[in-house]
Amino acid sequence: MHKKFEFEYEELDSKEALVAEDLALLNAAFQAVETAFAPYSKFKVGAAARLSNGQIILGSNQESASYPVGICAERTLLNSIGSQFPKETIQAMAISYIPNGVASDHPLSPCGMCRQSLLDFELRYKSPIKLILAGKTGKVMLIPSASNILPFGFSGSILGK
Ligand code: THU
Repeated sequence: MHKKFEFEYEELDSKEALVAEDLALLNAAFQAVETAFAPYSKFKVGAAARLSNGQIILGSNQESASYPVGICAERTLLNSIGSQFPKETIQAMAISYIPNGVASDHPLSPCGMCRQSLLDFELRYKSPIKLILAGKTGKVMLIPSASNILPFGFSGSILGK
């Protein structure tokens, strides 16, 4: 049997086309970029999540002198929400970045580990996380659920009890 995986997402010409609450979240991600600790890669990433209680929480990449120990912005944020706000669901996450101190002009696509972590949270809270991906300027991608970008993702349900 032939099968096909596809998903729908929106692409906006610029952040000005976002609805107010999503623009606020993207602006929060820009703020989060400033908190990145990325002396090794010089690639600063910021993420901002809107919770079900309306709060906006920020995270950024935090690198280590022992390179693999560093953690991406998305997982910094997810783990902080999971531990500080375990009862809230994440409605949306905006992600942006500044490479080498130069304003970015196209969206960043989250790495594979972060996709797994995003999927873990969607499954844990049974609630999709909308992704808002953008550089400082340029097009914005709106992806309805993090699961869209991790087809055939690994679910803990297979681990049994
Ligand atoms: N990084 C993120 O924070 N998020 C991603 O989705 C991709 C990469 C970070 C990890 C590292 O600190 C730097 O960007 C360069 O890879």
